[in-house]
Amino acid sequence: MSTSPSKQMHLGAFLMSVGHHAAGWRFPGVDPANTMNFAYYKKLAQTAEAGKFDLIFFADRLAISDRFDNRFDTTVRYLAQARPEPISLLGALGAITDKIGLAATASTTYNEPFFLARAFATLDHLTGGRIAWNIVTSTNDGEALNFSKQEHLEHETRYGRAHEFLDVVTKLWDSWEDDALVLDKENGIYADPSKVHYLHHKGDWFGVRGPLNVTRPPQGHPVLIQAGSSDTGRDFAAQTAEVIFSSQPQIAAAREFRNDIHARVLKYGRTPDSIKILPGVMPIIGATQAEAEEKLRHLEDLVHPLGGLALLSDSMNHDLSVYSLDEPLPELENIRGNQSRYKLVQEMSKRDNLTLRQLGKRFGGSRSHRVVAGTAEQIADNFAEWFGSGACDGFNLMPAYLPESLTDFVEQVVPILQERGLFRREYEGDTLRQHLGLARPQNRFT
Ligand SMILES: Cc1cc2nc3c(=O)[nH]c(=O)nc-3n(C[C@H](O)[C@H](O)[C@H](O)COP(=O)(O)O)c2cc1C
Repeated sequence: MSTSPSKQMHLGAFLMSVGHHAAGWRFPGVDPANTMNFAYYKKLAQTAEAGKFDLIFFADRLAISDRFDNRFDTTVRYLAQARPEPISLLGALGAITDKIGLAATASTTYNEPFFLARAFATLDHLTGGRIAWNIVTSTNDGEALNFSKQEHLEHETRYGRAHEFLDVVTKLWDSWEDDALVLDKENGIYADPSKVHYLHHKGDWFGVRGPLNVTRPPQGHPVLIQAGSSDTGRDFAAQTAEVIFSSQPQIAAAREFRNDIHARVLKYGRTPDSIKILPGVMPIIGATQAEAEEKLRHLEDLVHPLGGLALLSDSMNHDLSVYSLDEPLPELENIRGNQSRYKLVQEMSKRDNLTLRQLGKRFGGSRSHRVVAGTAEQIADNFAEWFGSGACDGFNLMPAYLPESLTDFVEQVVPILQERGLFRREYEGDTLRQHLGLARPQNRFT
């Protein structure tokens, strides 16, 4: 089923705080005060751009994690929890970069479509077409409580809302046709009203008249990213997404996932090359394999098990503080949070016979994403194998501790991938769609 992968892989840099690893902030050389420091983010963005990455990505949560023991004490004490609001951050980073794509998460559960359509359209204009939106439905009750709700919406309900949300946003982006601006100074005609459209949308969740008060974005639509992996999440992605972020630790499962998405994409009348699947991976680079493994061991030693369990409680939307740390993760029904991640974690827990304490340390590491420790050459080999076997269209790199993990990758691994013809040496286009080889969407009103 899988189409042969395009010749060159795509690379995203998923930048989180001062590192993805729960203990990244404690690692030697990391300045944990950087989480709110613009000079630091500027350096990261410019490093990724020097490495010709397709995009950098900032995730988002709308609450401090506090599902563990229903308090934030564990997370605030042990984890680097503070984070900048990512849409604002993209605006600042757009001004100091020229080519690299800029992606941010925004929730369809706790926003209004008009607001997000306008924000992302504006950013797309300001950056000359380099913006992407990671569409999420959010994860847990802590987020609901910050938005005047008592409980997070049920899984199916929030995907239902996401469908309608996205429909409204894309219509708003289309509400000005590309040639609506006339700009005829002589005759005093600014724009052609026949090319600007009301939506008159009235649905289950939203009533939006439109049109937007921002002209159509340079990319037509900013690039749409999705990361849900449940059956409903996959279907949503297959209908709407252009990039999929996934958590796929095993190559065979990653290939199956890609085949499954391609089958669903075809069912919805799209072609498999209209969607790029980028599984997450945390590379730990050493001068020798032994050095890389030592770094990983050191990082794992530094994770507080309760910190890792607090992150897992948050992801599952389920308080794990009530179970014994010396027993395995119990079999749980009706997980209301991230269902696909719970499945992965339960599989890992059984496979490796982990106690909850051990699982906390392990989950804190990469939050069940793939970790590869080795030399730059070995990491390049591993990426080549995954890419060449049709397991993915590229990778969403999750640097463990920053800025060093990103700099090492750009200086040591990227040149090897370029040498092998697997990754670009220069940007060929100007927009993120061009980097990713994605078509500019038709305007539905034209
Ligand atoms: C790489 C990656 C990044 C994600 N980023 C976010 C995020 O920023 N905010 C969020 O609420 N969820 C995020 N998620 C979670 C997904 O949006 C989704 O809720 C999750 O995969 C569970 O979906 P499912 O229940 O359909 O499996 C991310 C997932 C992945 C794999």
